[in-house]
Amino acid sequence: MQVNDIVRGTIVNIKNYGIFVELENGKLALCHISELSKKYINNIFKLYSVGQIVYAKIIEINEDKDFINLTIKGITKEERKKFEVEHGDFTKLENNINLWIKKFKEGDNTMKLNLNYVANRANYKKYESAVKSINEMINKKTGSGNDFLGWTTWPKDYNKEEFARIKAKAEYVRENYEVLVVCGIGGSYLGARAAIEAINGLLPDKKLEIIYMGQTFSTDYIYDVMNYLKDKNFAINVISKSGTTTETSVSFRLLKELLESKVGKEKARDAIIATTDKAKGALKTLADKEGYETYVLPDDIGGRYSVLTAVGLFPIACAGINIDEMMQGAFDAMVETDNDDLHTNPAYQYAVLRHHFYTSGKSVEMFVCYEPRLVQLNEWLKQLFGESEGKEGKGLLPDSACFSTDLHSLGQFIQEGTHNLFETVLYFKKPNHEVLVPHDDEDLDGLNYLEGKSLAFINEKAFLGTLDAHSNTGKVDNIVLECEKSDAYTIGYLFYFFMRTCAMSAYLLEINPFNQPGVEVYKKNMFHLLGKKGY
Ligand code: PA5
Repeated sequence: MQVNDIVRGTIVNIKNYGIFVELENGKLALCHISELSKKYINNIFKLYSVGQIVYAKIIEINEDKDFINLTIKGITKEERKKFEVEHGDFTKLENNINLWIKKFKEGDNTMKLNLNYVANRANYKKYESAVKSINEMINKKTGSGNDFLGWTTWPKDYNKEEFARIKAKAEYVRENYEVLVVCGIGGSYLGARAAIEAINGLLPDKKLEIIYMGQTFSTDYIYDVMNYLKDKNFAINVISKSGTTTETSVSFRLLKELLESKVGKEKARDAIIATTDKAKGALKTLADKEGYETYVLPDDIGGRYSVLTAVGLFPIACAGINIDEMMQGAFDAMVETDNDDLHTNPAYQYAVLRHHFYTSGKSVEMFVCYEPRLVQLNEWLKQLFGESEGKEGKGLLPDSACFSTDLHSLGQFIQEGTHNLFETVLYFKKPNHEVLVPHDDEDLDGLNYLEGKSLAFINEKAFLGTLDAHSNTGKVDNIVLECEKSDAYTIGYLFYFFMRTCAMSAYLLEINPFNQPGVEVYKKNMFHLLGKKGY
């Protein structure tokens, strides 16, 4: 490394006088503000962000190589190109892709569609040509709602620069705050919550607690959260694609006021991160004006398909979850489900089955899990399928249950009630921990027959017993999605898998999967009642 060398690195700190860059060899370097641009820089914080990748030229270096000065304005396009040719373009994913495909081919058994408990099988032959043409329609973006298909290739096309910024800022938030408040509703928070709980469990992370606001007008809930935050050192991630959703906006106004009154405007700026449209909406205007770190929800990805964008990734990364692995899982699911072969594509097999059940008279799909940590994943599924398919008087009603808890409430209905539903069971084989039933000398509770057995073993027997009871005795079909473990990779895989299934299912119903016209009706009525101008 010497003067005039071209280098690449990641911004790790920004000061009024310049940016600190961690070079690829691990050395720290400074690019003074006067070396950043040929133009006058009014606000350095608006131009650069932590995590951003930059290319620069070394203009000064001391003997120990621990004092390195850079210029960014002094590097030419040709020099940068030459560097990329020699060192690889950071923005190209090929290397990663090859690695991922290799891992995928090695037979990492992420998820298996088990149809042993489905009696009413679909005739796949009948669906072959529809699936072929819909798959083509999805890939060529020719169906209804075709402006919102950005998620289909997102696991390879995602914005790498933003991704790096997300990781760096998330690390910063984990190091510097006690609580992150995720402020959003519907697709703007459900996916993040689903992943965080599925992977980390339900008890708060000791390093950074994540709590949710912006999804309700409930005075008591909001009061309680604000009251709790009074004594906490907290950051806010406000998320809204439209930037105008009332639940989220009202909550954010309250949170912003609380934070600013606690730490002052300057520190609050550092603690607020906005995820919204790249150009429009009230939140974007506000974020620009206040100088918040901002992430983008791309135009061609709708709320409930956005969990793998910054919408989900930032809070998920703040929870300490490895988002590289999550994107890898999503990528593998993309590779596996982007084909029209009904014999091998599990997403389309599942979509066809759903459609088959619907046309055979079922009206409810019950999403079932056996882990309380997956309850929010069920909530995400309910929104995904409910908002995508429930239109024009059509669609399956998505409902959910967590067994064995709900076997003591809904179990009776499923077993013997109205025969209008089927179940889709998400079963994770390996728990993250092991708990064994202890020995008791007196055995007054009669449980010594389970002594030394793991709770996972007992849960599995409850699962198998229920499957048999519901499918064989109750004649309720059960589609089983068997997964190994609820880790970042698998949850990323499932997110993509379900989105692909949902798009195919909705198109089989001849419905636009990507709009939600019905949601507007309550808003109009509410605005009218609130006296909003124009309503
Ligand atoms: O899937 C959707 O589009 C919706 O659920 C939205 O995510 C939800 O209404 C929130 O909208 P916004 O992000 O604009 O605040």
